[in-house]
Amino acid sequence: MTAAAMRLPPGFRKQSLEERRRQVAETYKLDDRDFAASRSPEMEDLADMMIESAIGVMPIPLGVATGFTIDGSVYDIPLATEEPSVVAAAGYAARIIGESGFETWSTEPVMQAQIFLENAGSAAEKRISAAENELKDSLDSHLAPLERRGGGFRGLATTRLPGLGLLQVDLYIDVRDAMGANILNTAAEALQGDLERLSGGHTLMSILSNQAGLRRAGALFRLPVERLARAARGIAPEEIARRIVLASDLAQESSERAVTHNKGIMNGISALALATGNDTRAVEAGAHAWSARSGQVRGLSRYRLQAQTLEGWLELPLALATVGGAVKIHPVSRATLGILGQPDSGQLSRIGAAVGLAQNFAAVLALVSGGIQKGHMKLHAARLAFQAGARGDEVRAVADRMAALKSYRLEDAAAALSRLRSI
Ligand code: MEV
Repeated sequence: MTAAAMRLPPGFRKQSLEERRRQVAETYKLDDRDFAASRSPEMEDLADMMIESAIGVMPIPLGVATGFTIDGSVYDIPLATEEPSVVAAAGYAARIIGESGFETWSTEPVMQAQIFLENAGSAAEKRISAAENELKDSLDSHLAPLERRGGGFRGLATTRLPGLGLLQVDLYIDVRDAMGANILNTAAEALQGDLERLSGGHTLMSILSNQAGLRRAGALFRLPVERLARAARGIAPEEIARRIVLASDLAQESSERAVTHNKGIMNGISALALATGNDTRAVEAGAHAWSARSGQVRGLSRYRLQAQTLEGWLELPLALATVGGAVKIHPVSRATLGILGQPDSGQLSRIGAAVGLAQNFAAVLALVSGGIQKGHMKLHAARLAFQAGARGDEVRAVADRMAALKSYRLEDAAAALSRLRSI
């Protein structure tokens, strides 16, 4: 069965954590032991194998933003984040955008490594270019498994860096479903000897570039303006749409605003990356570099109004893997890829683009229609209730009372809790 055919039941987000976990395991036919593993000694063995000097694990909440229509299929999207509003905002945006959903696309998963050579002779570029086939053949033993899956060598390029006199050799490889760091770094190091011979220079370093500008994913949605009515807080939907477009233009002009606008996008994408065992720093480095490719940081997403339809659009580098690294060895990422219907890297990246755009839409919509604090304070109240000692159903009851009284201090949480317990 495809992910599209499976759905979490309505009211999922209102269930207890145990019940939600049971429903996810049942709906997606997951091995419940994968979730149990996050609380077990097995998790500590894994941590001990994955990094040096491990002392334990740092659990981050894992949630599911439900009901995303992406390219005609419905997805529930697992997100791992410590920020209270992220899952709620993504799900809210998915509900407003509704069945027309997101259209997505992705480019081929071509990654790039760089070999930097010192003292390369003046004929180095010509000699390296003439030897491209020979250099490709020398990588056969490293790239054969990848070639069998449709990936492999995609070319070499040279650039002289005049400031330092270094020669930069770029190696391009289609890495299919991997993130690519190991493949690229191994191949780049394997080329060093030949490149030194051809250039007469010597290697300063060889390493993957996280810029990932060739491996991009994008998403767009088209929303009839009247569908903004439910979120408009008394403001006309046309006016909300106009403000969203203006906010998007603002993130093109003010780089300080663009940084925060893009942070909102990455709230969704990094949470998906973390939930699926991907390298969040690599994804963020690539995204932020892409946002500054004109020489100024600009918003990664754009909005425009076309005849009573609000269009949202996002494209960015996204190297989200479904094999290699921590992805297949971490029991929780095995489970989250199960929730997504075992996507390949391209699909996962397209889902990432949709969730990034959804997150951004929810944030900008809230910002231009009265601000984010109202929603955030409710979530903050739950944290204060927990800090004051509330557990289980008490947390929501205390938070609701604080919201009703509009008072959000720890003392207020403690007072609401003792009142609740005395009833
Ligand atoms: C908060 O984590 C994210 C926002 O600041 C994003 C934005 O300002 O667009 C709300």
